[in-house]
Amino acid sequence: MKIDKKLKELPLTKSNPSALESLFGNGYITPMWVADMEFQIAKPIQDALIERISNSGFGYEYKPESFFIAQKKWYEQNYQVDLNKKHILYSPSITTTISVLIENFTSVSDGIIIQPPVFMEFRDVIRNTKRRITKNPLKLIDKHYQIDFQDLEEKAKLETNKVLIICNPHNPVGRVWTKEELNQVVRICKENDILLISDEIHKDIILFENKFTSALQFIKDYEKIVVCTSEAKTFNLCGITDSMAIISSDELRKVVSRTFKKYNLGRTNALTRVALETSYTSGGTWLNNLIETIEDNVVSIAQEIENSNIQLIKPEGTYQLWLDFREVFEDTNEMFAKVSEGSGIGLNAGHWFGREGALFMRMNIATSKDKILNSITKIKKAVPNDTSY
Ligand SMILES: Cc1ncc(COP(=O)(O)O)c(C=O)c1O
Repeated sequence: MKIDKKLKELPLTKSNPSALESLFGNGYITPMWVADMEFQIAKPIQDALIERISNSGFGYEYKPESFFIAQKKWYEQNYQVDLNKKHILYSPSITTTISVLIENFTSVSDGIIIQPPVFMEFRDVIRNTKRRITKNPLKLIDKHYQIDFQDLEEKAKLETNKVLIICNPHNPVGRVWTKEELNQVVRICKENDILLISDEIHKDIILFENKFTSALQFIKDYEKIVVCTSEAKTFNLCGITDSMAIISSDELRKVVSRTFKKYNLGRTNALTRVALETSYTSGGTWLNNLIETIEDNVVSIAQEIENSNIQLIKPEGTYQLWLDFREVFEDTNEMFAKVSEGSGIGLNAGHWFGREGALFMRMNIATSKDKILNSITKIKKAVPNDTSY
């Protein structure tokens, strides 16, 4: 995969000096924290965008049938899901959809169940909508994260808890939930009338022998499921993409659609439309190369830290690595300061994903092998009492 050489010229969030200064105390730290990539985008997407810009102006657009057909084929070929056009609502972002769902289907102080350590914006959305965070923390057993089903069942039974948000593949721990695990999740939601929101934004980055199962495969058993997804992460389009909410229940969809209309959230952006349609029709080869590159990066890092006291939680999906520093540090703030200052590399502190992530760090590996090897060497050197040095 070719690295985008012009990244330094762009005003990217991950390298914004004031963000780096406030998070890491150093405006020039090498950023490996925000979940976007350093690779050039797929050539067919770039070509289609150039053509769209150079050929015409930008009047109001709708999403044509070809756009939907491309999505439908992608889901059929990759996930054995028969997408129904009627079920898709477009939303500016996944977090927008989650806020709208929470506001429409729960009341202030109701409990929303999340599975920390998990993508921090779930927590922010719940707080901003004045609902209550109910935690069903993941269990780490033999370097493998698992859902605590007994705890989930207990939390789901409580009358005050109304929604479960799952993340599949799970950011930051990299699990790809199996069909059996999802089956249990759906059963618990159904038995307790819990609205299930499945955030599947990382669905296309599935590594090694793992297989992705969409919650859409369960809608025949239970209608109160909303799948939120987008191509942003897959094709490095975070700066121009929108997202999809897939809702099979007419009743749920009508309510969400009404709110989207109320705030005029459904407008189409011409460049987003072109980029997404092209990624679905012509992005497959680029994606296969990407996955090979990420797998190779995972293997390289695993070898590099094999004899150190940093442990790798092997990812099943996503391009994030979840690194375990529990053998090295006892204090999470000390870990963050020592690793950031000592290495000059900006990683996410695990506790940003909830206190269950304390003493872990997340590293973005969607970049060149040279860069990740160089970075992990610096990180190892920054870690005290590392026997490999
Ligand atoms: C699990 C997950 N959901 C959602 C998002 C963000 O999506 P959006 O910008 O559409 O809200 C991210 C971004 O990192 C993510 O990791």
